[in-house]
Amino acid sequence: MHANIVVLPGDGIGPEIVSATLPVLEAVAARYGHTFAFQEHDIGGIAIDRHGEPLPAATLAAAQKADAVLLGAVGGPKWSDPNAKVRPEQGLLAIRKGLGLFANLRPVRPHPAALGASPIKSELLAGVDIVVVRELTGGIYFGDKTRSATDATDLCRYSVAEIERVVRSAATLARQRRGHLTSVDKANVLETSRLWRDVTARVMREEFPEVTIEHQLVDSMAMHLLSKPRAYDVIVTENMFGDILTDEASMLAGSLGLLASASLGAGKVGIYEPIHGSAPDIAGKGIANPYATILSAAMLLRHSLGLEAEAAAIEAAVSAALDAKVFTADLAAPGQAANTAQAAQAVIARLG
Ligand code: IPM
Ligand code: MG
Repeated sequence: MHANIVVLPGDGIGPEIVSATLPVLEAVAARYGHTFAFQEHDIGGIAIDRHGEPLPAATLAAAQKADAVLLGAVGGPKWSDPNAKVRPEQGLLAIRKGLGLFANLRPVRPHPAALGASPIKSELLAGVDIVVVRELTGGIYFGDKTRSATDATDLCRYSVAEIERVVRSAATLARQRRGHLTSVDKANVLETSRLWRDVTARVMREEFPEVTIEHQLVDSMAMHLLSKPRAYDVIVTENMFGDILTDEASMLAGSLGLLASASLGAGKVGIYEPIHGSAPDIAGKGIANPYATILSAAMLLRHSLGLEAEAAAIEAAVSAALDAKVFTADLAAPGQAANTAQAAQAVIARLG
């Protein structure tokens, strides 16, 4: 097949991890007889520098026309003045919203060879296989904001329709997996969470009777995620809880540098990006872990292009590279780290 992929390297380590990932996609294309056209655009801090805005109209227009979008990371100290009117992160939020990508899938599957890198005891981690489905275009991230000299507000709002569609995505996924969905909210305090719980319970009862549903409060969920991670299959939650819980969940996998994500909407186009940020402290050194971006490219092949075998081939190759202990600095013992290019090469060499 032929596919048009918009590439948004962004800031910090973004350009390095994206340029390490494109050759992996090229290798897959060559092996399976596909052609991928990559079109690069600016987003985030670099877009502010070059165009005066974090999401230039040309970037959004290209993404809307593309089959899929591969994104690195946005943000950095240069643009993080708390009083700045434009911020790199606004570009990320605006492109998610602009493409209508309401469901953010973040799989967490600790790799046996990397268990030692996790601060959690290995015996709790074996067999952990979770997908967090984070609502991505609503809630407190997108509500009205106010600021005066003496106070500030952020409005958290959810509609029934917004909750229904993301719960359906998560429940559909759970049905294809182990048939268990955990919905996370703060229904003992927040009205939006009480609506979330009611709508979720109804959608599950009426449309997914074969999927078991469990409701959890976010504070106890934060604890259970570390104390009994094997108990979870698919977790669905609102935007900000999902942001926080997935950084926490990345510690199960040993490094933020291993977690991929897919942001999906009603159509085929999706944004695929590592869950980590732009890591300005290590940017430009060529030492960042490219696996999360490479695994995001696998999700791109699966969800936007329907290329399941090709996606699985990349995942198996990353797994084999980890088995061979090709670890970047975030995972390696001191003095034994592979650099970004070496890790990407190790994946290409193992593509079945
Ligand atoms: C993420 C990031 C973003 C978010 C930031 C960079 C705006 O933390 O994708 O998890 O909060 O959604
Ligand atoms: Mg985050």
